[in-house]
Amino acid sequence: MTITSIGFVGTGAISEAMVRGLLAEPAFASQVYLSPRNPDTAGRLASEFHAVAVASDNQTVVDRSDIVVLAIRPQIAREVVGDLVFRDGQSVISLVAATERQTLLDWIGADVHLVQAIPLPFVAGRQGVTAIYPPDTSVAALFGVLGSAVQCASRKEYDLLAATSALMSTYFGVMEITTAWLEENGLEKSKAKAYLAPLFESLARRASENSEADFSDLSRAFATKGGLNEQVLTDFETMGGRFALHTALDRVLARIEGQS
Ligand SMILES: NC(=O)c1ccc[n+]([C@@H]2O[C@H](COP(=O)([O-])OP(=O)(O)OC[C@H]3O[C@@H](n4cnc5c(N)ncnc54)[C@H](OP(=O)(O)O)[C@@H]3O)[C@@H](O)[C@H]2O)c1
Repeated sequence: MTITSIGFVGTGAISEAMVRGLLAEPAFASQVYLSPRNPDTAGRLASEFHAVAVASDNQTVVDRSDIVVLAIRPQIAREVVGDLVFRDGQSVISLVAATERQTLLDWIGADVHLVQAIPLPFVAGRQGVTAIYPPDTSVAALFGVLGSAVQCASRKEYDLLAATSALMSTYFGVMEITTAWLEENGLEKSKAKAYLAPLFESLARRASENSEADFSDLSRAFATKGGLNEQVLTDFETMGGRFALHTALDRVLARIEGQS
């Protein structure tokens, strides 16, 4: 099954990633309409893919598309969405962060079929996991093509996954902090990189391939009793690692939920 037409209001980083994923072979969309902003990104995609057309304005995107993706920044979302006329029953996927479903529906002002989603840049290579809310079979299928989808039954579930998506920079931060320690101890940076990136990649692959196993099972599997891995995990826990991580997640969740 493919999508007939999908349009993007806001042609920025995440729209480009989605378009690349949707139009990779075999393409999942027959026609893609892009709003003219940003002209460089829209022009680049139109010259690369026959299925992409740059519309003259945002309303034309909405008028021509079966599915409309809202991909503008939260600060301008009200102004942009409020100016548009949607059809009753039209499918709308909102990527706009930290904006309540009901608020979006009020701005849209029509009886649309609205699903919120948090695609990650990896959708460009069809390897991104996307949280969606509320559960929706066809939107889950779309994001399934771009990697995989996790369907959230409540706004709370959706916000919790949004909070954990804020760990991406910390993932690389752990690698950077480890690299700095290796350098301080005399290892060349290039060797640190050559070692750490494949190490983390193998661990992530092991977790994906063992979807039945809890992370605690995997952690135990790599921690010989009295061994080096067990020692580092214990130090991490007892020296505040868990506390720091949970506190950071609590704080980002509060921000997502609009409490801070
Ligand atoms: N990047 C991610 O990984 C990611 C993931 C999940 C969700 N999101 C959410 O998705 C939304 C877009 O994020 P992004 O990273 O793609 O942002 P971005 O790169 O800044 O893209 C936003 C685009 O909107 C365009 N724009 C500005 N005013 C417009 C208007 N009046 N009409 C139509 N388009 C207009 C901008 O054009 P100009 O450049 O010309 O200003 C820009 O190309 C945000 O709400 C963000 O929170 C992003």
